[in-house]
Amino acid sequence: MTVVKTSFTENQLPDGPKAPALFQLINWVARPFEYLEECTEKYGDIFTMRLLGFPPFVFIAHPQGIKEIFVADAQYFDAARTNSNGGGRLIMGDNSLILMEGSRHEKERKLLMPPFHGEKVKSYAKSICEITEKVASLWKIDQPFIGRDVTQEITLKVIMQALFGFSEGEKCERLSSLIAHWLHITGSPLRLTFIFLKPLQVDLGPWSPWGNFIRTRQKIYDLFQAEIDDKRTHPEKRGNDILSLILSATDSEGQSMSNEELKDELITLLSAGHETTANGLAWAFYWLGKNPSVKEKLSEEINSLGKNPDPIEISRLPYLTAVCQETLRLYPSVQVALARFAKQDVEIMGRHFKAGTTFIPSIYSIHHREDLYAKSKEFKPERFLERQYTAYEFIPFGGGVRMCLGHALAMLEMKLVIASIVSKYNLELADNKPIKAIRRGGTIAPSNGVPLVLTGFR
Ligand code: HEM
Repeated sequence: MTVVKTSFTENQLPDGPKAPALFQLINWVARPFEYLEECTEKYGDIFTMRLLGFPPFVFIAHPQGIKEIFVADAQYFDAARTNSNGGGRLIMGDNSLILMEGSRHEKERKLLMPPFHGEKVKSYAKSICEITEKVASLWKIDQPFIGRDVTQEITLKVIMQALFGFSEGEKCERLSSLIAHWLHITGSPLRLTFIFLKPLQVDLGPWSPWGNFIRTRQKIYDLFQAEIDDKRTHPEKRGNDILSLILSATDSEGQSMSNEELKDELITLLSAGHETTANGLAWAFYWLGKNPSVKEKLSEEINSLGKNPDPIEISRLPYLTAVCQETLRLYPSVQVALARFAKQDVEIMGRHFKAGTTFIPSIYSIHHREDLYAKSKEFKPERFLERQYTAYEFIPFGGGVRMCLGHALAMLEMKLVIASIVSKYNLELADNKPIKAIRRGGTIAPSNGVPLVLTGFR
């Protein structure tokens, strides 16, 4: 990416849909993947979408453009300004990493990074397998269940265990039911509209949308505060969990996080850290149900490790890795990366853009380029064994300085949950009805939740 030194008299944005901004917004919300497909088909690798209430967004659907943005990320772009307009601040608070910019973002990321890095992530492996086994052991033969509910139960327990060090007991039950209610409020575009519209932000009691929203958030924050107080006043109770690690961490000036900052980061990690992975896992079981030969090959690979294999050995299996990659490629849980706001004039894919232009790296569009992924709608894990994709061609976790903080944990979790289940349980799709990708909060989920049924044991 090059910085444009001369000033430009025109900043013509790339072509894009001409429909009224309200119509574009409705399409974007209701038909996220289809609308992206229509746009790339008609306008190509770079196009402008105009969504009511937002600045024009320049979508990037070419690896070269993605590279130019990710490589130059910190210096030339901010992620926060546009993302915070969408109500992120209301949901995750002012101190959420996702909404920070510049040096504050860099400092905060350094504080949060250690629990999500390398060796530390591996320490979550045992609890992921145990949690999966506990949930799966309750399944009964021939009794269908909704896959997405189960994967969400697993991923919520995993993130609670990682964050606080508990995944059962009274505290866990209380937090789980509050989070379920929170997701019910924030998961539907319609309910969110009631919350984001300023004139409707009036507390008319617990049954009003705003009243319900602020009360639920307060209850979650009270629970977080109790955990923080307990660990601050009793350092001996600090363990290997992320909250304990963050409480003990200090930045380069010796400062640790305040209670307000901590609570916003906890809700950020809890939300970002389980719905995305739950969707990925639900899709994985859908594709395995649809492709019995892939499931067989996968089961053979896992069995080749013998009885009670080491979870880290499991996580290195190439075909298992390819199955997870192909799942996240086909329907990425998040269809676009965070919006990037140009801090100065820039050139992307040979075009000049003025400071203030907002770019969106389109994950879904990149993952469905036929020149990279032939027959892109087909589930073919082998493609990841036959070719090494670059960090700009396969981007389920975004990239640059904003790359998903939890990507290593998410991949480890997907691999271990899938391996624990495939090696022991025979799961099949409970029906053959067509399935669609739909928006669920900030993520993309399978429309019917993927009904599954246990047909036997391996
Ligand atoms: C399959 C699971 C997941 C997917 C597909 C996913 C995807 C993403 C994407 C696309 C971004 C934006 C990156 C960019 O704009 O370049 C992101 C950011 C983020 N993710 Fe994830 N994520 C997943 C799981 C997780 C987990 C398990 C956690 C934490 C426990 C997490 C925490 C975050 C955070 C904190 C950010 C913001 C990073 C920043 O602004 O610096 N995610 N994720």
